[in-house]
Amino acid sequence: MAVRLGVGCFKLLFSLCPFILSPWANGESPGRCGYQACPAVNPKMLNVHLVPHTHDDVGWLKTVDQYYYGANTGIQRAGVQYILDSVIPQLQADPTKRFIYVEVAFFYRWWKQQTDSMKKLVKQLVNEGRLEFVNGGWCMNDEATTHYNSIIDQMTLGFQFLNETFGECGRPRVAWHIDPFGHSREQASLFAQMGFDGFFFGRLDYQDKQSREDLKEMEQMWRASANLPKPNADLFTGVLPNGYNPPSKLCWDVLCSDEPIKDIKDMDEYNVDQIVSYFIQTAHKQAKHYRTKHIIMTMGSDFHFQDANMWYTNLDKLIKYVNAAQNTGSDVNVLYSTPSCYLYELNKANLTWSVKSDDFFPYADGPHQFWTGYFTSRPALKRYERLSNNFLQVCNQLEVLGASGSHIGPYGVGDSSVLKKAMGVAQHHDAVSGTEKQHVADDYAKKLAKGWDQCEVLISNALSSLSGMKQNFIFCNKLNISVCPRIEELGNFTVTLYNPLARAVSVYVRIPVNGTDYTVSDPTGSSVLNQVVAVSNFTKKLRKDRGYAVNELVFPARVAALGFSTYSVSRKSDSSVFSRLFKSVRRKKGLTIENKYIRVLFDVDTGLMSGIENLQKNLSLPVTQSFHWYSASTGNHKSSQKSGAYIFRPKQGSPIPMSTNVKTYTVQTDLFQEVYQNVSSWCSQVVRLYKNQKFVELEWTVGPIPVDDNVGKEVISRFDTPLKTDGIFYTDSNGREILTRRRDYRPTWKLNQTEPIAGNYYPVNSRIYMKDGKTQLTVLPDRSQGGSSIRDGSLELMVHRRLLYDDNRGVGEALSEPGYDGNGLIVRGKHLVFLDTVDASAELHRLQAQAEYMAPWTIMAEGTGAPYSTHLNHISEFSALKEELPQNLHLLTLAQWDSQSFLIRLEHQFEMGESSVYSKPVTVDLANLFSAFEITSVEEMSLGFNQRKEDVSRLTWKTVQEAHDVKSASSRNDISKHTVVLNPMEIRTFRVHIQHR
Ligand SMILES: *[C@@H]1O[C@H](CO)[C@@H](O)[C@H](O)[C@H]1NC(C)=O
Ligand SMILES: [Zn+2]
Repeated sequence: MAVRLGVGCFKLLFSLCPFILSPWANGESPGRCGYQACPAVNPKMLNVHLVPHTHDDVGWLKTVDQYYYGANTGIQRAGVQYILDSVIPQLQADPTKRFIYVEVAFFYRWWKQQTDSMKKLVKQLVNEGRLEFVNGGWCMNDEATTHYNSIIDQMTLGFQFLNETFGECGRPRVAWHIDPFGHSREQASLFAQMGFDGFFFGRLDYQDKQSREDLKEMEQMWRASANLPKPNADLFTGVLPNGYNPPSKLCWDVLCSDEPIKDIKDMDEYNVDQIVSYFIQTAHKQAKHYRTKHIIMTMGSDFHFQDANMWYTNLDKLIKYVNAAQNTGSDVNVLYSTPSCYLYELNKANLTWSVKSDDFFPYADGPHQFWTGYFTSRPALKRYERLSNNFLQVCNQLEVLGASGSHIGPYGVGDSSVLKKAMGVAQHHDAVSGTEKQHVADDYAKKLAKGWDQCEVLISNALSSLSGMKQNFIFCNKLNISVCPRIEELGNFTVTLYNPLARAVSVYVRIPVNGTDYTVSDPTGSSVLNQVVAVSNFTKKLRKDRGYAVNELVFPARVAALGFSTYSVSRKSDSSVFSRLFKSVRRKKGLTIENKYIRVLFDVDTGLMSGIENLQKNLSLPVTQSFHWYSASTGNHKSSQKSGAYIFRPKQGSPIPMSTNVKTYTVQTDLFQEVYQNVSSWCSQVVRLYKNQKFVELEWTVGPIPVDDNVGKEVISRFDTPLKTDGIFYTDSNGREILTRRRDYRPTWKLNQTEPIAGNYYPVNSRIYMKDGKTQLTVLPDRSQGGSSIRDGSLELMVHRRLLYDDNRGVGEALSEPGYDGNGLIVRGKHLVFLDTVDASAELHRLQAQAEYMAPWTIMAEGTGAPYSTHLNHISEFSALKEELPQNLHLLTLAQWDSQSFLIRLEHQFEMGESSVYSKPVTVDLANLFSAFEITSVEEMSLGFNQRKEDVSRLTWKTVQEAHDVKSASSRNDISKHTVVLNPMEIRTFRVHIQHR
């Protein structure tokens, strides 16, 4: 066999063999990897594909660095470097052996430390399909709490390393999410668009699994988009039989304690016959739930293969003795294999597969074990991660726009790669998910902060190069708690807003100051209406000793598309203006605030929001917004399961209202109106309406959650209305398409609901809404949260949780975050609330959700700077675009790829039927888009940027005919002269070469 020849030569490769192997003496053999490298199977038998694998968490109980080195053994005996060190010689010695590797964050560290000869050997193994990369992202990302922008980026980062290092043979064919706690539909859609041929995972609801086993639907086609034409978002999906573990009794790692295969006949403990018959029986049992003559067994688990010899020695014997039993009538054939080789056999079976079009949330591994707590766990880390994506996109864009001036400039060497990697790590299913130990959560945050530091240098370089002015830039990363010490003391300063969206935006800027009277001028020098208000007591209590500004300066700003606008601020002598700001408007029935679009009503007795009116549409809805908390279960007679980092399990009964008497005061200015609600000693909220904004902003501050009564608490913000919603509500999938949710119901099996609250929770990344025939209430959170509609007309989002016990899923800590001063975490965040007609709502929430995750970045600077670069004048407004993109088109990515080329992703951000205006196909001319540079060549790529679009060829599958097929947006679009057409929800990815103007 070809494989054997290559290997036989291997040991001689660098002395004799180069002559015979000359075309690939550099270690790059031609295409023997991929499906061509798959092992032979026996078509008459039941083939058992043994997949030796290791599941290496990119941080969990230990930090990613500790896992790499195998440090901190007191917590866990796990060291990834030893795994790779140990596996490679095993593969080298025997060409039939296979191993897969998944997490590039680890592999890349190991690779950097290897000698040239080891690198050659590894390339050889990859080229022969003996070492295969599967999934291939920087990490194996969480699916519930991740945003699609960051999923795409982290996969692209992993793919980039694999392509650079191994070329085509390093390209993963199969997606492999064996551990994430439930599976989103958008993830499957993105995987399909990345060119994967199939997807395997381990965790799904235990009832779902049972019914799939019975129906033989463990493997089927996932139609993962309601918008993309099939098969673009079709992904063949398989549920693994044992999660990702081996069958019981067959675990042969140093971390396991099963009996080895003892095959010396005359020894007392000889157990070959016993294991062979057990194995054959196990294989047949498993095969009952699957449809082909092939089954898969995952031989490995968390951090397995540190001593690969132990696994392989026993697997060798297993294969030898089980296959020997064929001579005595067994029909079981065992072989070393990989997920892609298994998938290939399924494909060749040429069956017709059933189709699924919902998702795999929520995940429960028992009647009282719903993994819906992690949708909210560690809310501050979740926000920091989301904000870090915002900052990374700004950094990536300015790296392109500032050209070489962004890398080397007056502020030092700017580098986006540190933040890219930190974000790659943060997507891991124990990172942004909030299911790691506290010290590991701290490490994720620290890695992000280091990435921010590098991007701040890059951005400073780029801005001085683009503006022609070298300045003392000040990055204020605590504006949400009114802290920016360097600015507070200054009389004059500038505020530069960089807008990463390809359309101009209007925002309100809030900056901590100490004066009471300021002049603000816009980029043209015209003065801008502004307002100074006192920093609230809520904020003072939260920021503690981090800042002392007494006031906030607020002004509206308009920021150029894909560019910046610089505003100047100067302090005037103090006046007494703001004493007249504190006045409340009381009507007969209560208090209201309003602008020209929205009126918000409050109940005089309770102080709670009691209604919202849309003044333009003549809609009025009683809406009571209030905070409640669920008492965390510590186990009961039904189950000992406790609420914890993963699992949400409230005690039976209704949540407890935080307060029925909320003290309020209002602040009304020409620019905004606010109602301050003092809900309790550890919960407050500001309900805010800015002039000209069509939504109500609810800025909540929650914590430290008191637990001195020995009760863990899970806090929700709830919106109660009389809307007749019939059990239906809607949540987004990773920030993109919307899924319909129905209380106490699953689309694909008959649910036996055993947890009426936790079992109805779903991940909310960017929006949740409910509606009747006419009116829609939509809430946009600023980070991922768990959410639901527990009663008709009611929506809730879980904002914070603090628990006293571990939930027994491995993390081994109670989720009780210490926060800034060790007394418990205080979290501040925002909910944006829209009340509008059903028809108009999608336009509002689509555009606003985009404006939230790619918000303008505020960069301040001290007074005047020094001229820099060749510009004659200081440029205070800049846009890199010739014209703004239409509203339904989003510039998802603009980033440097390598020294020559750049990455552009364009996204149609509406679904079919969402908007009569914006759900239409849209055309854009790439050549005429950017003013900052000229595009000299365009090549369309797959979503993950590791293949040219024209080279993508996925396995094809037959599926059952469906009653109602997805209406496919027609017209395959071509790039003719750089003109690109995008259909609803389509993302198109381009590699371009550019020339700066
Ligand atoms: C992938 O690697 C090949 C071979 O090194 C290279 O020619 C190609 O440009 C790479 N693709 C990308 C997108 O970088
Ligand atoms: Zn894991």
